Amino acid sequence: MKRLKSGTLIAAIAATAACVPWIAAQTSLTGGRERLLMDFGWRFALGHPYDAQKDFGHGTVGFFFAKAGYGDGPASLNFDDRAWRSLNLPHDWAVELPFDRNASANHGFKAIGRNFPQTSVGWYRKVFTIPAADLGRRISLEFDGVYRDSIVWVNGHYLGTEHSGYSSFQYDITDYLNYGGANVVAVRVDATVEEGWFYEGAGIYRHVWLTKTAPLHVAPWGTFVTSEVDGGGATVTARVALDNQGNAGATFDIEETIVDGEGKTVATGLVRGATLGGGDSGEFFSTMKIASAKLWSIETPHLHKLVTTIRSGGAAVDRYETAFGIRTVRFDSTQGFFLNGKRVELKGTNNHQDHAGVGAAIPDSLQEFRIARLKEMGSNAYRTSHNPPTPELLDVCDRLGMVVIDEHRMMGNAPEILDQLKRLILRDRNHPSVIVWSMGNEEWAMEGRDTGARITASMQAFAKRLDPTRRTTVAISGGWGAGSSTTVDIAGYNYKNNGDIDKQHAAFPRQPGMATEEVAATTTRGIYVDDRPAVHLRAYDWKPSSWGSAIEDSWLFHSARQFVAGMFVWSGFDYRGEPTPFGWPAVNSQFGVLDMCGFFKDHAYYLQSWWTEKPIVHLLPHWNWPGKEGQEIDVWAYSNAEEVELFLDGQSLGRHPMKRNSHLEWKVKYRPGTLVARGYREGKEIASDTVATAGAPASVQLVTHRQQIAADGEAVSVVTVRVNDAQGRMAPTAGNLIAFELAGAGKIIGVGNGDPGSHEADRFVEKVSSVAIPNWRWKPVEGAAAGAEIAVELDDSAWQRPPGGGRGVQGGNPPAGAGSLYRGSFDMPEMEANAALALLLRSVGDEQTVYVNGREVAAKLRRDGAGHEIVFGRNLLRTGKNVVAIVATALSGGRGQGQRQGGPIGTLRVTVPPGPWQRSVFNGLAQVIVQSAGQPGDIALTATSPGLARGELSIRTLPQVPRPAVPAN
Ligand code: GAL
Repeated sequence: MKRLKSGTLIAAIAATAACVPWIAAQTSLTGGRERLLMDFGWRFALGHPYDAQKDFGHGTVGFFFAKAGYGDGPASLNFDDRAWRSLNLPHDWAVELPFDRNASANHGFKAIGRNFPQTSVGWYRKVFTIPAADLGRRISLEFDGVYRDSIVWVNGHYLGTEHSGYSSFQYDITDYLNYGGANVVAVRVDATVEEGWFYEGAGIYRHVWLTKTAPLHVAPWGTFVTSEVDGGGATVTARVALDNQGNAGATFDIEETIVDGEGKTVATGLVRGATLGGGDSGEFFSTMKIASAKLWSIETPHLHKLVTTIRSGGAAVDRYETAFGIRTVRFDSTQGFFLNGKRVELKGTNNHQDHAGVGAAIPDSLQEFRIARLKEMGSNAYRTSHNPPTPELLDVCDRLGMVVIDEHRMMGNAPEILDQLKRLILRDRNHPSVIVWSMGNEEWAMEGRDTGARITASMQAFAKRLDPTRRTTVAISGGWGAGSSTTVDIAGYNYKNNGDIDKQHAAFPRQPGMATEEVAATTTRGIYVDDRPAVHLRAYDWKPSSWGSAIEDSWLFHSARQFVAGMFVWSGFDYRGEPTPFGWPAVNSQFGVLDMCGFFKDHAYYLQSWWTEKPIVHLLPHWNWPGKEGQEIDVWAYSNAEEVELFLDGQSLGRHPMKRNSHLEWKVKYRPGTLVARGYREGKEIASDTVATAGAPASVQLVTHRQQIAADGEAVSVVTVRVNDAQGRMAPTAGNLIAFELAGAGKIIGVGNGDPGSHEADRFVEKVSSVAIPNWRWKPVEGAAAGAEIAVELDDSAWQRPPGGGRGVQGGNPPAGAGSLYRGSFDMPEMEANAALALLLRSVGDEQTVYVNGREVAAKLRRDGAGHEIVFGRNLLRTGKNVVAIVATALSGGRGQGQRQGGPIGTLRVTVPPGPWQRSVFNGLAQVIVQSAGQPGDIALTATSPGLARGELSIRTLPQVPRPAVPAN
């Protein structure tokens, strides 16, 4: 092991150690690393981009952005957030909003953006405890991604602003913490503007982590493992960047251990006596040989783990794990892509982070479901269009065997843009699934110009310096022969109709290439006759647009060219927004070969038949065409058999040879009955498909992809809802509305059905709103107050403002020992009939009695630093003016530590429970996503619909040690 360099600041965000002696003293004493998931127990409320009052008074107190610790409104330490909704991350508030035709088509007409300021800013707060024993450790907050323009404060201290809705970022919060007590993180998120032209969600839609380390530790994203395969063995180089945030110099050993998938140690490395000065950073490396290495591949995704242990003063001060895979990747300009020396045709899809029910807030196990669906179709490659993915997606691709084009958001070489690219590469470069970095997509303003050529070249050089092991691409849609296409390392062809791929290859014969986007067909699952008013398009294969192509035409074209490394279909899944070719009332795209839920459309079977070895026969359309008796219907078969024969009610309609990468068609006169297609290889039947005319909807069936899930509060079971006829055949045009009920150890987190025109709710969540009580009046009283003064009709205009009454307002001063009378009034808006009310007050005396509109709601409440929550019936309130009165004894000894202070004396919280979960099936199918609630046990899900036999499903959640997490509170 050799020291590469020292004194270079490698960490993306490295806080400077304060010059206090205890940090140096503890350098080698403080214990190892902890990484805690910080997803549970957040508070959330909508704020406002420019109306300060609706933004909880944020940005109104002097010095809020001028002095450390003056974060105001929800950013302040003592803000009372009890009137906010409680929730867990990941969370996407946009998916909970209604659809509105005045909203942006790009973002799927969700009521967010410029025209909807009242729903475009969200605030998140979380209280967390830091033990006294943590003093001396370095502590940081990491965000996998927040959409977008996020500002973070800890204990009222401003930490930074991150504009990107996709880049991961972190803040060192060591110096701001209250050790041995409560701390609060506040995040303001402004999703007013769009980054992409597709649905992007809103909020903290990815994980948050709290990381604790010793002052001497592996830098954030500080390891880089590369390998060279040689015969059956491999030489692994482990680079590690270390930060010594202690004040004094440190001497330490670095132990490297490589562990294979079975937990066996296969190589070790050791350096003794490395040194780093106080406040210094440096990079070290060691080389290790593995005698017999299990390679990572698409079929056998063997993972290894590098365990880096830093020992100083006899103790292990850090232990850092890096998952990696041993494999070789190579792009060849004439032969395409090679993995471990073998040509692999890239059978790819493009995808956004968006799923039915949950929007952008996709739990890790749902990411796994999605990747597994794509693999089932035969896909082996995924492009993270058009932005850095969440790192957990790459973990899934590593585990399941799916290679990835990891894409950066916007091209350029301004510092902010390069910093985002740097964070992407440092974060993701150990993932074996990542085979290439994409610098960007369809940069129309420059892709065909000299600026495009220059910026592509400089970004690629920048990427190469951070990761010399991978090549780069740009997805280009025009200007071929000029601009980006002249300097790009691997040409990314976006649509064969946008340019001449063969001409580009002839002009740049040493440039490899791949179809980074192709197809863009718009089809609706289960639809075989266009119904444009309903925004439904037939799922046969047809040329969809000037740039797009039929799927068969696309695959025939690219698979015929060896130099094209493969094809990435636009898109794998449907997604919200970009509802091409429609506008309102379409709210989703229909480009997917799978719909929003992950149900296969017919195109997915075309790919499955040519992308897998599995024998496939798939028939389309369904066979329910009442009113079309005697008319000819196009019947297609997708199959990888050599011959396919079609039968109607047992009578052969012809047996035909199947051309490679193609399909077969028959014209069949409709009559209710049963179609069967049989596929043959060497004369033997290898697969078949049956489509029968189904009867009327008779029952609901629930089927899950996982009957057992971990009881960890995160895992999901994805449930298919099917409406069947009396014989258990899916009713292919059914649209019944189904109601769901869940009991036991889980909860429903989203519902969907894949209909691109559905405006039904994806989520049914509690609505929590706060009604401000802004104008408090006060007067001192001797002893208990008189009855008249709590009455609604009383002129209190001569009373004073309350003492210390909120947001820096100076009020009167009570004489020593005197009690107080407070009156606050508020206007009550219309309330839902099932709204629950609670008055949230802070203590204003040692004892207080509270009245609403003259009626006592709480008597003699003792002073409480946590404040008071008083629940009362809605019959006490009236529409219009209402009055809260508090009669309080004196507040002895002033306001204590931990006392809720600042902000208003009280707020009214209005909670409307969620409506019952429901969703219509679309062409017979819908989806319910069920998540573990954290405890082991059984979950019972029932589905009911008038006139249909109910569906029932039981899911078990199994005890599992959850991953280390910051408690919910
Ligand atoms: C491309 C673009 C994609 C998507 C697609 C639809 O131009 O890169 O994001 O919009 O068109 O065909």
